[in-house]
Amino acid sequence: MTSETTTSLLLSPARLGRHELANRLVMAPMTRNRAEVDGTATPLMAEYYAQRAGAGMIIAEASTPSPVGRTYPNITALHSDAHTEGWRRVTEAVRAAGGGPMFLQIQHGGRVGHPDTSGFTPIAPSPVPLPEPIHTPTGRQEAVTPREMTSEDIRATIHDFAAAARRAVDAGFAGVEVHSANGYLLHQFLAPNTNLRTDAYGGSVENRIRFTTEVTAAVADAVGGERTGLRVSPGHAVNGVTDTDADVLYPALLAASADKGLAYLHVAFASPEQPLFARLREIWPGTLIANPVLPADRIPADGGREAAERLLAAGADLIALGRPFLANPDLVERLRAGAPVNAVRSKYAMYTGGPVGYTDYPTHG
Ligand SMILES: Cc1cc2nc3c(=O)[nH]c(=O)nc-3n(C[C@H](O)[C@H](O)[C@H](O)COP(=O)(O)O)c2cc1C
Repeated sequence: MTSETTTSLLLSPARLGRHELANRLVMAPMTRNRAEVDGTATPLMAEYYAQRAGAGMIIAEASTPSPVGRTYPNITALHSDAHTEGWRRVTEAVRAAGGGPMFLQIQHGGRVGHPDTSGFTPIAPSPVPLPEPIHTPTGRQEAVTPREMTSEDIRATIHDFAAAARRAVDAGFAGVEVHSANGYLLHQFLAPNTNLRTDAYGGSVENRIRFTTEVTAAVADAVGGERTGLRVSPGHAVNGVTDTDADVLYPALLAASADKGLAYLHVAFASPEQPLFARLREIWPGTLIANPVLPADRIPADGGREAAERLLAAGADLIALGRPFLANPDLVERLRAGAPVNAVRSKYAMYTGGPVGYTDYPTHG
């Protein structure tokens, strides 16, 4: 495809199941720590998301399905009626602003959590602590050793994901994204260095993919496959997780979920040159959202457009961008106009709270 065709493809309408998307740009899930202490989404959050309604689709930030799954201070949650009502205000604001479908990411932190934040000793596949300090309400602290999940914990956690998915639909989301990426609980089950179990959930590839597969299936049973997305980040070494057998494990994981009629697969840190990306595209029968690898320290001058176009040319259906949307509420309009993009004020990305660096990024012109 020529650059001209792919450019117009990126900004041209698309479909996601029964949803019409105004363009192929998806706002990637980004934790911003602006919720109430109990995890309820705030009116400020509604304003932030409504500002970004120009995205073809929004995947809202990680929301925890249970108190023990909480990762960091002031992240959002979805296990109480107050949480449902808070998120409802957000989905209503985005709809009123003319936004497309909005999914909510459901995230259990596993070992990425701290008793000072959640009130609980974190739970994880195995008692292997996070090898780095973690942010808590009183600043960064050494991680604690998580408690190994029992069969009952596994069953309860699967149930919590399904319950959160029902609440999300009740709150007006088009669906949910199961977070099996970036070193959080589900990824901790996938990776050999964080999963030392000897039961049906550990050891072989078949066993390590079981938890993600069961969570995804339970969510799809609860709200429908067309309302269920899955996010993975193959080989992305973050939060101390090492995917040593990504080339075997991710094809197996996708094959196990390929017949569930899921809304989409979302591959984070995707590169068109990776043989694994091509393999995942081959295996995945439905919509594939790819999140390109952009420079770690800045947004490129073109807002990520060139990287997005290369992934579309490599077979992605939709393109998720994180920081470009964080810093540019009107990103789609800027790309359409070829206008310059705002840089991220990183200091305000997380943990500061309030509107500065959140809802005060200027629109073009
Ligand atoms: C402030 C911030 C918060 C993030 N929070 C989440 C999150 O809640 N869930 C998730 O899966 N990824 C999260 N990410 C990762 C993004 O979804 C995305 O994969 C990453 O920023 C790379 O895309 P980009 O280069 O377009 O920003 C976060 C990234 C940033 C910058």
